[in-house]
Amino acid sequence: MKLTPKPGGFGAVVTDIDLTRPLTKQVVSALRTAWLEHHVLIFPDHAMSDDDLERFTLYFGEFGDDPFIAPIEGRDHIIAVQRAADETAPIFAESWHTDWSFQKNPPAGTCLFGITIPPQGGDTLFANQHWALEKMPGELRRKLEGVEAIHSARVPYAPDGVYGKRDAKDRSMDIRASDDAMVEQRHPIIRAHPETGREAIYGCIGYITGIADMDQAEGMALLAELYAWQTREEFQYRHKWRENMLVMWDNRSVLHMATGGYDGYARKLHRTTIAAWRSDENSL
Ligand code: SIN
Repeated sequence: MKLTPKPGGFGAVVTDIDLTRPLTKQVVSALRTAWLEHHVLIFPDHAMSDDDLERFTLYFGEFGDDPFIAPIEGRDHIIAVQRAADETAPIFAESWHTDWSFQKNPPAGTCLFGITIPPQGGDTLFANQHWALEKMPGELRRKLEGVEAIHSARVPYAPDGVYGKRDAKDRSMDIRASDDAMVEQRHPIIRAHPETGREAIYGCIGYITGIADMDQAEGMALLAELYAWQTREEFQYRHKWRENMLVMWDNRSVLHMATGGYDGYARKLHRTTIAAWRSDENSL
């Protein structure tokens, strides 16, 4: 197995490995170490089946719980992130987020496998939230110390949300908005990564809908200030996809977002999530 860090400072390409076959414990352990260090691992050129994707995911924890999007036929834990060539629906997930941060125990990681990749556009952006915290001006950091954010899926997935009743009729993804999206969950804005202990900013406005024990307008203003900082270009890695490429990212370390720019071309990826890490599992 060979690891080549991306020049920008986070993300690494993994080669000399075959993800269509079972991996040894030693290789899985080395991958976990690399994942925790580089936050985004990229595996080009693997003709993975859905069985391969599930087996790979389960090396790193149980499957996460994926609400609001129906799984693909015949699988309970794989969703399709897809858009047809003639689709006019807004791009899915084209805003910064960390996956399912509105859950009590949000997923540690996400695996996304490229099946149909357009010749242009459709990159995924990642923003390193360790860096964003480490380089944060003291004045902003002081406002966030000890503060809890309120997360919910209301904005995208409530019946009157972005993917609810008013969503485009031609969306090819099977999104199921529901009142469950109103449930709220609190998480600290600055928190230690559960496996490495390194502090990061967790989440951003979108799934974060307010700040606990703070006036709503004041909270949103602080969240907007945080958003402007944590998504700065200097913290970003732009990922360009190829078919048969798997990307695995750490939701506790990075934000991510989809991008468009591929109208007239289809795009399809299969996605799994890795459940929250339990301290009795393998780690560093
Ligand atoms: C996602 O947020 O899971 C989708 C990312 C993408 O489509 O690039």
